[in-house]
Amino acid sequence: MTDDTTAAGTPATVTDVATSEAAPGPMSGRQRLLAAAALRPVDRTPVWFMRQAGRCLPEYRALRERYDFLTVARTPELAAQATLMPVDRFGVDGAVFFADIMLPLDGMGVAFRIDPGIGPVIEAPIQTMADVRRLRVGRAEESTPYVLDALRLLRGELGERAALLGFAGAPFTLACYLVEGRGSREFPRAKAMMYGDPDTWHALMDVVTETTIDYLRGQAAAGADVVQLFDSWLGLVGPRTYETAVLPYTRRIFAALAGVVPTIHFSTGTTTLLGQIAGSGCDAVSVDWRLPLDEAWQRIGHDRAIQGNLDPTLVLAPWAAVEAGASDVLRRAAGRPGHIFNLGHGIVPATDPDILTRLVDLVHAHHPGTAPA
Ligand code: CP3
Repeated sequence: MTDDTTAAGTPATVTDVATSEAAPGPMSGRQRLLAAAALRPVDRTPVWFMRQAGRCLPEYRALRERYDFLTVARTPELAAQATLMPVDRFGVDGAVFFADIMLPLDGMGVAFRIDPGIGPVIEAPIQTMADVRRLRVGRAEESTPYVLDALRLLRGELGERAALLGFAGAPFTLACYLVEGRGSREFPRAKAMMYGDPDTWHALMDVVTETTIDYLRGQAAAGADVVQLFDSWLGLVGPRTYETAVLPYTRRIFAALAGVVPTIHFSTGTTTLLGQIAGSGCDAVSVDWRLPLDEAWQRIGHDRAIQGNLDPTLVLAPWAAVEAGASDVLRRAAGRPGHIFNLGHGIVPATDPDILTRLVDLVHAHHPGTAPA
């Protein structure tokens, strides 16, 4: 992996990389991210940030002064503009398209809004089997055509600069919102349904799963290079519950995408679930900062790619601390193919964007296979 003999001259294509174990020559951001997702060698470690297209950027805040959140998300030109802001500013290798995990609920017949400072609010939360029976399986072409249009626009705009990341909320996290009606620390109503009324829970997970499969396949067909499944609140369940109440649905989604597009599973607070998550059929597992990267990768297994895992609040500290933390993450990746650098969760709004630009430069200055200073 330290052999640099192929680095000079012609840019490597993803195919070149596949057939060579030597460090590849200069790659585009898109090639880099796709190679890492496929556990192939890269010239530099690919990097992007969750919530990169958001409130830490003054240009995003200016856009939001003119339009509300859902107007930006539902207008392809505006969504594309918000998606490109962090790519232009930070030089990241991945562009996560601007949307929210709630958007496919439109197609299920669920009315919601996004309240500033609060997040998603469901007008009539799901409580009974009769409520679940009224839901439809959403079809992306009919209910979220603006998402597909934004992705088509972006694929053309981005070229090789960055991989286009599609995404969806995972069934568990969406079910948490659907039953609870809004964000919560514990999601007690949702978990009470999961434990106390399993028939209704499974019926709900089923309709959300089918909607998510159609949504993600639609995104892949519209130009998403990779898709990430956000199971943000998965840390609320233990291993046995995960096995029966959640994992079958996650597996169904990844099986439906196998061979279509590379997939990333995202969650936080799931240190005890990493082995099971690795068996869900995803290509890469995104991990938070609660385990050092090398320990997390050991639990996942080196036959899967890993994404992470700097604490998103560490970037609020002085640069020396950020540099030490990022170097530690890179050192623990140890030049092994299959690392996508990211934070362990989304950027917090108070983050100084200039620190993130420096962080991207630091990651890109490091050659995988060589230990950072
Ligand atoms: O840059 C990106 O990551 C792309 C866009 C994106 C948004 N939401 C934009 C957004 C993505 C990938 C999401 C996913 C999302 N949405 C998740 C999963 C990721 C995670 O962080 O765990 C969840 C749980 C949601 C639900 C949601 N939507 C919340 C909790 C909030 C924040 C509420 C608040 O104001 O603090 C939203 C709204 C939202 N989604 C904003 C953005 C940029 C802020 C809205 C605004 O501009 O006012």
